[in-house]
Amino acid sequence: MKNIAVIGAGTMGNGIAHTFAQKGFKVQLIDISQQSLDKGLATITKNLDRMIAKEKISESDKSETLANISTFTNIKEGVEYAELVVEAATENVDLKLNIFKELNNLCSEDTILASNTSSISITQIAAVTNRPEMVIGMHFMNPVPIMKLVEIIRGYNTSDEVTNTIMELSKTLGKNPVEVNDYPGFVANRILMPMINESIETLYNGVAGVAEIDTVMKLGMAHPMGPLQLADFIGLDVCLSILNVMYEGFKNPKYAPCPLLVNMVMAGKLGVKSGEGFYDYSENRKAENVSKQFL
Ligand SMILES: NC(=O)c1ccc[n+]([C@@H]2O[C@H](COP(=O)([O-])OP(=O)(O)OC[C@H]3O[C@@H](n4cnc5c(N)ncnc54)[C@H](O)[C@@H]3O)[C@@H](O)[C@H]2O)c1
Repeated sequence: MKNIAVIGAGTMGNGIAHTFAQKGFKVQLIDISQQSLDKGLATITKNLDRMIAKEKISESDKSETLANISTFTNIKEGVEYAELVVEAATENVDLKLNIFKELNNLCSEDTILASNTSSISITQIAAVTNRPEMVIGMHFMNPVPIMKLVEIIRGYNTSDEVTNTIMELSKTLGKNPVEVNDYPGFVANRILMPMINESIETLYNGVAGVAEIDTVMKLGMAHPMGPLQLADFIGLDVCLSILNVMYEGFKNPKYAPCPLLVNMVMAGKLGVKSGEGFYDYSENRKAENVSKQFL
């Protein structure tokens, strides 16, 4: 496999493009927004510079990685030669179903179609194509160039051959793939999101403040990052849609999103990507509790 198309140049898409390109794959990075593509490339460049500063890669590794990435706003042109497409567009069912319908028509019949979705059913996505055995979940973790796990999700019809190919490809990327079955939230988010939601509920109930909740989990449970800060990094909109998928998928109130999370997303406070969430990420990067205004 040589040509990989990545759809979406946001938080995850640029990390996925970076990771493949650094391992010598030709990456076609596709987004509907030119601004997202520019921002994605700027993030990749910044992250490569950080790796140079830490002496993990050389200047020539950086230029080779960047030379392996080309960008497209036209999906048809972007996927023309792709042997694998990794979709990392916004977490929205209708949007993803439309993208996969389009991919089914545009891609060669040998092309494997993967989704980086955090929670949407791979079986449902596969059902809009006429190649459900070639559709699989490739759930990278944020930040992609650093995190070792890739959760590989087998849809109901995903073939053994496609699963083995994607497991081996993930190892080529230097990752540790773990195979799981297709149920809402898979494994990672089924366990993580209720913890994040409960942390928001704890804040909403006034039990403790943002810094206190995160400190309890960091120092008491040896988590490298508190759950509220982690939610900011994931994106509060992403957290909300994952919880909604699990709430609807299991018909279980334990997954109902906390009203504070719903309010913050409606107010455009999405975490790091919008500059503000439970913490303030504006220029001076004050880590202060800004969520009180929503209580
Ligand atoms: N953020 C995380 O920590 C994380 C972790 C694992 C998986 N994911 C999953 O990865 C996917 C992307 O999440 P993100 O956090 O990178 O989102 P994001 O909002 O940062 O980026 C989404 C990008 O998709 C683009 N887009 C929207 N519609 C498109 C279309 N039709 N064609 C091409 N591009 C389109 C947007 O312009 C945007 O640049 C989601 O499915 C999410 O659930 C996110």
